[in-house]
Amino acid sequence: MKLHVITLGCQMSAADGTETAAALCRRGWQATAELEQADAILLTTCSVRRHAEQRALSLIGRLREWKAQDPSRFLAVAGCVAERLGERLTRRFPHVDLVVGSKKAASYADIVSEAMGNRLESLRAAQEKDAVARPQPEPVPADAAAAPSVGNPVQTLTIMRGCSCSCTYCIVPSVRGRESCRPADEIIHEARTRFQDGARELILLGQRVNAYRSADGMDFPDLLRALDALPGLRRLRFMSPHPALCDDRLAAAVRECRTACEWIHLPVQSGCDRILGMMRRGYTREQFLATAARLRATIPGVVISTDIIVGFPSETEADFAQTLTLLDELRPATVFCFKFSAREGTPAAMLTDDAPPSLKEQRLAAANAVVERLTRQALDSQVGSIVEVLAETPTFGRTRTGFKARWKSPVAAGDLVSMHVDAATRRTLLGDIDEPHNP
Ligand code: 5AD
Ligand code: SF4
Repeated sequence: MKLHVITLGCQMSAADGTETAAALCRRGWQATAELEQADAILLTTCSVRRHAEQRALSLIGRLREWKAQDPSRFLAVAGCVAERLGERLTRRFPHVDLVVGSKKAASYADIVSEAMGNRLESLRAAQEKDAVARPQPEPVPADAAAAPSVGNPVQTLTIMRGCSCSCTYCIVPSVRGRESCRPADEIIHEARTRFQDGARELILLGQRVNAYRSADGMDFPDLLRALDALPGLRRLRFMSPHPALCDDRLAAAVRECRTACEWIHLPVQSGCDRILGMMRRGYTREQFLATAARLRATIPGVVISTDIIVGFPSETEADFAQTLTLLDELRPATVFCFKFSAREGTPAAMLTDDAPPSLKEQRLAAANAVVERLTRQALDSQVGSIVEVLAETPTFGRTRTGFKARWKSPVAAGDLVSMHVDAATRRTLLGDIDEPHNP
């Protein structure tokens, strides 16, 4: 069976797709980058904003043709849109063979292979009825094809699923369910497997990753320290931590762990206390800024990035201005700015979505102008310095602080190198390699 995976949405959705593909490959499936060669497609979808959901629906619509070319092909739609719409998806798109929502993400591989097995059996039975004498192809034994090496030096690793917060704008708790943490020994074992597969940097994933706690009481800083002790690991990142849970133990673990990178994505959402309260974020502007200051004081050179939402119900011009001044105080290197999108069933969707699209657009543009300036300053501050880069391709990689970097003389993917920063484009540091860093 040849499987083509398409992932839409956040890194969690991407990780669900790639982790499922890897599990299926261990059972004898083959991954293919070519849609035309695929016997099956696994699509993981996102419903965090209406726009993301519409993208998923239009892609599913376009896959009707792929399916029509050969009705024995198998189309599985997974993820948050599948969870939210369920059977409504199959009614609207009869060419979809399997709908499996994100609450079952940990079992996608089992569910997809079982559904595919049933499908093959019914096809076989139909063919037998059709042409009793025609020889059947040999089924591929489960262990015949080796899992393809993912081989990427930077890999994500899901350590927990779901979210037990109740931010009023967010659909994630309802589509992904409450938090559940993977056992620490399973995570450590998987990390080891990833190193054999070529991983040098791991990005630990969870909706509120620093809420991690294993059944035997290991918390997130403990987990960072346990992974840091693994000899194959060069770099460790995580996303996204919740600002209200960034305590001194976490900051100390990041400072003390050899591999933990000096980059923290700390989503703030708004700079206005009234809006933060309505969002039920669990912190005020001052508390958030104090957390960021504490991280900066403990972790030398740490670079912070964040998310904001503009046009939350009842947000005034003065409230929005507070988000802009917060950005100036926080000085993040990158910011993901989103227009508020009312998601059915969330508490914020019961409020009047009073900012017209043009106003949201205007605030988004104003926020992006501030972000553009902050990113420029952050990149410029690196020019003239020497930075450690992990090569993801021969001439592209990232610094420990999360900046993209490009250089001239090719190196091997997976190498850690020192780059002298000569210049910066809008998003990327440019330079050349001083020396390899590898032991
Ligand atoms: N509308 C707009 N942005 C949202 N996000 C989450 N839910 C919504 C929503 N309903 C943003 C938040 C979060 C990021 C992943 O998506 O900023 O941090
Ligand atoms: Fe989208 Fe959230 Fe689901 Fe990720 S978890 S795919 S961001 S809805």
